[in-house]
Amino acid sequence: MKSEVFILAIESSCDDTSAAVLKNQTVLSNVIATQKVHEEFGGVVPELASRAHQKNIIPVVDAALKKANISVKQLNGIAFTKGPGLSGSLHVGVSFAKGLSMNLGVPLIDVNHMQAHILAHLIDNNNYEIPVEFPMLCLTVSGGHTQLVLVHSPNKFEVVGQTLDDAAGEAFDKIAKTIGLPYPGGPLIDKLANEGNPKAFKFPISSMKNLDYSFSGLKTSVLYFLQKEVQKNPNFIAENKADLCASVQYTIIETLLLKLKKAIATYKPNCIALAGGVSANSALRAAITQLGEELNLPSYIPSFEYCTDNAAMIGISGYYKFLNNDFCGLEVTAQPRLKV
Ligand code: KG4
Ligand code: ZN
Repeated sequence: MKSEVFILAIESSCDDTSAAVLKNQTVLSNVIATQKVHEEFGGVVPELASRAHQKNIIPVVDAALKKANISVKQLNGIAFTKGPGLSGSLHVGVSFAKGLSMNLGVPLIDVNHMQAHILAHLIDNNNYEIPVEFPMLCLTVSGGHTQLVLVHSPNKFEVVGQTLDDAAGEAFDKIAKTIGLPYPGGPLIDKLANEGNPKAFKFPISSMKNLDYSFSGLKTSVLYFLQKEVQKNPNFIAENKADLCASVQYTIIETLLLKLKKAIATYKPNCIALAGGVSANSALRAAITQLGEELNLPSYIPSFEYCTDNAAMIGISGYYKFLNNDFCGLEVTAQPRLKV
């Protein structure tokens, strides 16, 4: 086995074009081009996203190689996101990775985006302690997914609960839109919530059977509440923005924690972790850390740079698959609905 493995990774599942170079578990570069074009539409426009990926992919890969200070000849594998994600966006990354792998004669490694969010915890990153206590119970919360995943090893994942409708990030973004905040609203709710009272308004915490989630009821309940209040006072939203954000954020986090606690009691994991874009949320990070302390369970919170979509997480997943000789052929295609 090679002692030094260089992986080039490509991520293009949604609206960020990203490329990273890893040397074993260490990230040498992680370049992300965020697409601003979607802001004015209040959400990602798939057609515009794939066009922007086409424009960005060569300069982004080039920048990642330059920053890592390595030549393509040193690469041992090309990892890419196979899915889940937007079909047209994924297709750009898949085609580019195939072309490069064929040209260089190095293995092609297909990566599941949701598994990659979790494996971001295994990136060797100076001040970050890598989890070793499997099984790890990971709450994966992004714009498209909300899942409780029991991670038995870096290659074995079991989904034990998930949302039946909206994802937690989607709930943040859609409610933010109702409050008049631009897309993506999640980070803005987080910021405004710092100034507000989380108990100012009471919204319902959904409790599905077993370990599943539902967030569509919360979205509707906030919408009806605001319609009623705005009828009485047209300035209601502007006057209560921070309290609204804090109360919505509190409800989403309480909903997430309810099933996380139940899953811990059921599966008795050796540690807990948070992953996905919503793991950038400051109150959620604090809540998971506190829960770990209360239950005397190690808890792992990702570094901010590896919370939202990035290619470094695709690279670390690619590295583990490389160690297992788990490669794919050139016939591989994008799988927009790929499951964990
Ligand atoms: O994982 P990600 O980058 O993309 C997907 O795979 O979906 O997650 C993006 C989601 C968006 O819904 C965004 O609003 C949310 O993560 N997000 C946050 C925060 N930062 C990003 N939600 C709440 N608080 C944040 N600080
Ligand atoms: Zn993601």
